Amino acid sequence: MEKIVDQIKKLKIEKNAVVLAHNYQIPEIQDLADFTGDSLELARKATEVKDAAMIVFCGVRFMAETAKILNQEKKVLLPAYDAGCPLADMAKVEDVLKLKEENPGVPVVSYVNTSAEVKAVSDVCCTSSNAPKIVKNIPVDTVIFLPDKNLGYFVQKQVPEKRLILWDGYCFVHRMFTLNDLKKGRERYPDAEIIVHPECDPEIQDNADFVLSTSGMLKRAKESQSKKFIIGTEEGLIYRLKKENPEKEFFSLGAARVCFNMKKTTLERLKECMEKETNEVILSDEIVKKAKHALESMIKYI
Ligand code: 13P
Ligand code: SF4
Repeated sequence: MEKIVDQIKKLKIEKNAVVLAHNYQIPEIQDLADFTGDSLELARKATEVKDAAMIVFCGVRFMAETAKILNQEKKVLLPAYDAGCPLADMAKVEDVLKLKEENPGVPVVSYVNTSAEVKAVSDVCCTSSNAPKIVKNIPVDTVIFLPDKNLGYFVQKQVPEKRLILWDGYCFVHRMFTLNDLKKGRERYPDAEIIVHPECDPEIQDNADFVLSTSGMLKRAKESQSKKFIIGTEEGLIYRLKKENPEKEFFSLGAARVCFNMKKTTLERLKECMEKETNEVILSDEIVKKAKHALESMIKYI
């Protein structure tokens, strides 16, 4: 019987589909994807696939929604239809509207890890790789920043001249890293660079060597003279780091931390979704129009 990987490859051609995958996806999915990247790269890629009949998004819901918002005329499928992001779920539209009412005229900067509805009531979006730049470039001195408080801390440190009104959200995966993990990592691999994601807690960020988005980590690993790296983010990235840098060594900070939503995309689910063209991401015209404005403003402020 034909292997499932070959069946998916055939389906990609038959359906004229582009498969996009986030850096946290399982190795088999990363290997099959036409493009693998961080949230910003994937959002950008979604606008560059004009000739494809459909985008199949291997990641979590907010990422597939972002692809749909930027490409409304295109069919966007999400093989793991139940793959949410608990961080994104921490910002509800009604609470965002309430905070806006309490702070009239203050723009809302939303991390892409938000629902399409929250993006629709936001002024600008950002990702972990461009958040400080966006906040710096908005021509105001105060912004509402949501939903990740730790990313907010990271931005505030780099943009001290602005006031950030922070939301109390967090990613449970990145909050699992501890100072003890850092201490043990340094003891065990004293010559390794420690790189963590800005969704990690402030004390983890403050004691790491670099704080970077997932693609920032890939870039740093490639450019650095160091041969060893301790990585403080979801374990899926380690696969890509090793694949692209076979001469270097990568270790998880503490125990490998897993985002179970990112692991819901399996080869079986991908194949079935492509075959039947199910799990289409549907958003209303009004939400798309408003959310697109926030995403396009992000591109303007980078
Ligand atoms: P990146 O944009 O750095 O890939 O992060 C997305 C994410 O969900 C981190 O948990
Ligand atoms: Fe959401 Fe955290 Fe998973 Fe990223 S790692 S998708 S922020 S739960």
